[in-house]
Amino acid sequence: MNKTARGLLILTTVVSVNVLLFLWIMSQDKFSAPYQENCSSCHGDTLTGTPLGPALVGTDLQYGDSVTDISRIIRDGSLKNGMPAFAATLDDTVVQRLAIYVAEQRAGFRQFDLKIGQSLSIPVEAITTELHSFRLETVATDLDPLPFSIALLPDGRMLLTERGRGLSIVGINGQRSTLIPGAPTGYDDAIGSPFVGLRMGLGWMMDVALHPDYATNGWIYLQYGDRCSSCELKYKGFSMNKLVRGRIVEGHWVNEETIWQADRNAYTKSSDMGAGGRIAFDDNGHVFISVGFKGPTNYTGVQDLAMPWGKIHRMIDDGSMPPDNPFVDKPEALGSIWTYGHRSPQGLEFNYKTGQLWSTEMGPRGGDEVNLLLAGLNYGWPLVSRGLNYDGTPVDYGKLLGLSSDTMDIEQPIVDLTPSPAVSSFIIYTGSAFPGWQQHMVVGSLKATSLYRIVVENGVLIHQETLIHGLARIRDVEADAKGLIYLLLEHADGSLIVRMVPE
Ligand code: HEC
Repeated sequence: MNKTARGLLILTTVVSVNVLLFLWIMSQDKFSAPYQENCSSCHGDTLTGTPLGPALVGTDLQYGDSVTDISRIIRDGSLKNGMPAFAATLDDTVVQRLAIYVAEQRAGFRQFDLKIGQSLSIPVEAITTELHSFRLETVATDLDPLPFSIALLPDGRMLLTERGRGLSIVGINGQRSTLIPGAPTGYDDAIGSPFVGLRMGLGWMMDVALHPDYATNGWIYLQYGDRCSSCELKYKGFSMNKLVRGRIVEGHWVNEETIWQADRNAYTKSSDMGAGGRIAFDDNGHVFISVGFKGPTNYTGVQDLAMPWGKIHRMIDDGSMPPDNPFVDKPEALGSIWTYGHRSPQGLEFNYKTGQLWSTEMGPRGGDEVNLLLAGLNYGWPLVSRGLNYDGTPVDYGKLLGLSSDTMDIEQPIVDLTPSPAVSSFIIYTGSAFPGWQQHMVVGSLKATSLYRIVVENGVLIHQETLIHGLARIRDVEADAKGLIYLLLEHADGSLIVRMVPE
């Protein structure tokens, strides 16, 4: 099988494991049918406008273009100008579906158009943005279709994880090494069964990160889906996030230590797709990891402090328990939990200037978020989300779980990215190559294949710009000591690493 076919197979298998495609087909109607029924007579079948109503795509919207703004005008109308109010005839969920539908059509990307197979060409001409112009330089090509993370070594080489392979080094010349012997791998073969492993999305390599004092201590941290290969038979074909650290000495992974590992009863057969898997360090000797929904369903256990899923965990960098963690004194809770109620936390970064921890999180349909992570707080999944479930129903698993979102304190996202671009990893920029971007978030996305700049001041979104539009699925973003920004691009014909260099 060639690489493209393999990449597509892996991805579609994983997606179908989640039955998302099926739900999408079933749900199409719930989003487009109410539009065709109530709106197309004035705004046109394709939203391009008629003499009775303005175009809703390809133009700015006078009443605002967020889902909240669009919902408001649908509910309240603009009676004197000919837009009816729908509050009395359509219920809130349908209004929200319509607003997400309009926003998705405006953005030109659709739920489940994963863009894994679209042709990829790196633009040769400079890209001009509000504050800086830059060129994209290709650093490495021909990587696996499903890479996950890069970490820039001080000597200019890079550590690379590929989900189905393992850990390797990309040299200055862009050549990828063979797998580092001794390090955990994402190979299917290790498990010896055709029904589990990579094809079911289990046991993937996730983030690789250098300890802040790497130059002196040499520690490399690696998060991956542990397949519990040493476990008893009952747990074969299960997986769960695990964090280890080790050193690379003479090309070999050595001195491995386990920093965080879940109880084996928390290992599941759920795909590592939503497992999060990122690593961040603060300036005070702690390491944080994101663990997304990995329970038996995408909502089980996320609100349960005894379960590791849907949490950000915080440890001392040697794996010991910080005495000041928020739930450390609660006997029924896991002491490592820092925050909870997370769905699919794809990015995790510490801001060394403000001392704050930030995350990006993939929501359902609509509802991608940027969150400021404060000790002990609940970020709401699966009780509330600004998005809707893939099948168009509201997010409210509270009833099923016997929990009410009204009686619980839920932290709201700082930035609500709807329609969902499928946010991935990000950095908080501090380099000198792009001085205008100091402290701004540079955020990648998968489905939207775009790179965003997000400016947040005092906990409020100030500005958002699309820096690169329609490039490729951006899995990871990193910056080197000079402030050049590296993007890890996922592609079925072979993934790449490109570098943004100021013009
Ligand atoms: C009878 C014709 C008519 C129908 C039906 C109608 N609209 Fe409108 N719509 C208008 C007009 C006219 C405006 C411009 C209002 C204004 O300028 O104040 C408008 C404005 C809007 C706007 C704001 C555009 C902007 O620039 O901010 C949105 C969004 C919108 N409509 C969505 C919808 C949706 C969704 C539906 C179906 C639920 C719908 N409309 C049904 C006529 C209509």
